[in-house]
Amino acid sequence: MEHSEQRIKIAVQKTGRLTDHSIDLLERCGLKVTKSKDQLICYGENMPIDLLLVRDDDIPGLVSDDVCDLGIVGLNVAEEKRLKLEQDGSKGLFKQIFELEFGHCRLSIAAPDDVEYAGPESLENTKIATSYVAILTDYLNRNNINAEPVFFSGAVEIAPKLGRADFICDLVSSGGTLAANGLREVEVLLESEAVVIQTLAPLGDEKQALVNKILQRLDGVLKVRDSKYIMLHAPRAALAEIRALLPGSEAPTVMPLEGSDDRVAFHAVCRENVFWETLENLKAAGASSLLVLPVEKMLA
Ligand code: PRP
Ligand code: ZN
Repeated sequence: MEHSEQRIKIAVQKTGRLTDHSIDLLERCGLKVTKSKDQLICYGENMPIDLLLVRDDDIPGLVSDDVCDLGIVGLNVAEEKRLKLEQDGSKGLFKQIFELEFGHCRLSIAAPDDVEYAGPESLENTKIATSYVAILTDYLNRNNINAEPVFFSGAVEIAPKLGRADFICDLVSSGGTLAANGLREVEVLLESEAVVIQTLAPLGDEKQALVNKILQRLDGVLKVRDSKYIMLHAPRAALAEIRALLPGSEAPTVMPLEGSDDRVAFHAVCRENVFWETLENLKAAGASSLLVLPVEKMLA
């Protein structure tokens, strides 16, 4: 085992919406870890990378304090920490280095169904319940609105019913929680997704090279997520039409078929999902023996 200082520590949410997807992505990058969620640390078996499983709210702090080199966290959590440090007069000691394209949600202000909302001026002199005091305060300041954030650590959506606030500011994903509590979204403060953050402390050449390698692999994993490899046979004359039916397919491979003057084999990577309808259209254009395969890895 390498010296622990040479190992990269990545903070990952212990239990929550980002957990499975975060670990799955790292595994697709080639990392094998001993998986046990009740453990605080998962040791990488085949790379000098260890995962620290922690509460998501703690991730920016762990990266900022250089306890972890990297963190995978919702932009909402990272922004809240960055603004809080800024509002306290200190600087966030982490930088966002990669967007992971999952965990999409919005941080929004929501109003009770029976309360009128005519734009941000309706927030004037009200109380707004939230776990995101720093982001909300920043929004209110930027829009010159005088309103009072009321901190709730959870169950923010019940604050209006309890008479503790007029509005709430919370995460919205499907919108189910708002609807179930008689609330509606009225302002979007932040569009969020999972991101990778890195400490501002220099990592040293070796560790930084490994971080760069992981980022390149993550990029490769995300690029092929919806990609398919399609193979088919078709008359050479139909190739133009077939290519037009496959948007996102780059330079296909076209090979003559043994024993046929006219028909060719066509192989291409499509950067989008290939639906049944597309296959039916390809068949109508003269294609046969259609095969669609998932793409696992891609390195340009
Ligand atoms: C968030 C948020 C809402 C809910 C919104 O909580 O606080 O309660 O998700 O999602 P929906 O629009 O799909 O209903 P989460 O489940 O992440 O738990 P947490 O508040 O404990 O972090
Ligand atoms: Zn949380």
